[in-house]
Amino acid sequence: MALKMRPWRVVARIKTHRGFGTPIQRIHTKQGLNLPRNTGTNAVNYTAATAGAALAGLGIWLLTTPTRDTVPVLENQEVNTPDFSKDQITRMLSKEAYSFPVNGVTGVNRYDGAQLASNSPCEDRFVHGKVPSPRDNDDNPWMAWAVFDGHAGWQTADLLEKQLVPLVQQRLRQTTLTSEQQSGYQESFQNAITKTFVELDDSIVKTAQETSLSSLPLPDKMQKLMPAFSGSCALLALYDPVTSNLHVACTGDSRAVLGQKSADGTWKAIPLSIDQTGSNTDEIARINQEHPGEQDIVKDGRVLGIMVSRAFGDGRWKWAQELQNSMIEKYHAPALRPTFKVQTPPYITAEPVVTSTSIDPKTPSFFILASDGLWDNLSDQQAVNLVAGWLEKPHAPPSKLQPTPTPTAMDFSHLSKDVVSSKFTEERTITQDTNAAVHLLRNSLGGNHEELLAGRLAATTPFSRDIRDDVTIQVAFFNCSGV
Ligand SMILES: *[C@@H]1O[C@H](CO)[C@@H](O)[C@H](O)[C@H]1NC(C)=O
Ligand SMILES: *[C@@H]1O[C@H](CO)[C@@H](O)[C@H](O)[C@H]1NC(C)=O
Repeated sequence: MALKMRPWRVVARIKTHRGFGTPIQRIHTKQGLNLPRNTGTNAVNYTAATAGAALAGLGIWLLTTPTRDTVPVLENQEVNTPDFSKDQITRMLSKEAYSFPVNGVTGVNRYDGAQLASNSPCEDRFVHGKVPSPRDNDDNPWMAWAVFDGHAGWQTADLLEKQLVPLVQQRLRQTTLTSEQQSGYQESFQNAITKTFVELDDSIVKTAQETSLSSLPLPDKMQKLMPAFSGSCALLALYDPVTSNLHVACTGDSRAVLGQKSADGTWKAIPLSIDQTGSNTDEIARINQEHPGEQDIVKDGRVLGIMVSRAFGDGRWKWAQELQNSMIEKYHAPALRPTFKVQTPPYITAEPVVTSTSIDPKTPSFFILASDGLWDNLSDQQAVNLVAGWLEKPHAPPSKLQPTPTPTAMDFSHLSKDVVSSKFTEERTITQDTNAAVHLLRNSLGGNHEELLAGRLAATTPFSRDIRDDVTIQVAFFNCSGV
């Protein structure tokens, strides 16, 4: 008789199980959760307990017999297929979006941000916010924004997200910044940023040998080494409200662009950084000069196989061959392709190019910071026009230009054959988002071409990487009324 009494039938209640998209029924008794985990032993106890209970009477048995069953029940699960309705697309594009009105930093009205992952986990990181003025006796806070586009992992970008801005602040506080009228001010400011970047990268990459040989426990060594195995670009913008200077430091191929309204009402796109890649002729010349006599360091737009010519981490492009071999053997570090000869490393550097641009407080303007994922399919001027359009007609009716014809059965080969443009085109402009960064994201991925946009979003890792990259965007507004 006792064996016919299954406890889960007796004092069942229904609980929502959080691990699934839709609630399913999980059934257990009140006492069930506090029991020891060893279900084997419990099963035996259960038999003994129920035998006793049969003698003691059913009522008492109901109240006292614990149940052991915490196993999820797999029946009644609804199959939850993601839809690509308009609302769902907006939710996906806005998942990481943020927007802040700014008070107390002269000139800055507001900033918006968004991020869309292609990799899982996303390899991009970002920071934004007020920072105390590095000047002595100055209460005017500055603003900082940064985008860190990681590659071969997220570990370097993650470290930069936590450490770069605080270290830059520390260094600037030690630099004399009171005399911006004096010659050399800009130079010493820029040097301070450059030094911070280089020293932080040294602390990641140059300490690796020491870490490797140290007697630290293995997990500690791995944690210290991983940011040197992966790599990351860094794009940092610092706004000084006292001088109205926007300082932009760029290591890698994330890009900063200023949009500035002209007297005739059009918007000008002014580059604040230049992509540092194996396609940049200045970078190619610099690298060849640093490694005289070595053939083919830069080939097909890549520096010994990597697209960027400057980056944090990436020990493979910075360590001597011997050290690399030992890193690979001892810590499973990633390796360079064996055809590449490492003769005179480092081949890439974290040293940034720093620009300082005076923001005219009388002119409406904004800047866009974004990882290369945005710029893959969008030019500087197109991005500036998109944000300007968003500013000036936030609820614009759909574009009157001829809609892009869609093949009846669309696939991604239509992009490579240019039947459907993979790049942004003006007639695909759609202005519907309240966040300027989401607006850029939506339009860069297809705009009003819903099948293209949804098709790109439906592609997920690891199949999405050729279709879209991780994208991180920040847009900050200066003297733009109405935002
Ligand atoms: C902002 O720009 C407008 C021109 O569009 C100008 O009239 C105004 O004075 C500017 N605001 C400030 C605070 O300089
Ligand atoms: C558009 O972006 C994708 C993904 O980043 C890239 O593969 C493609 O080449 C870009 N299109 C063009 C025409 O450059």
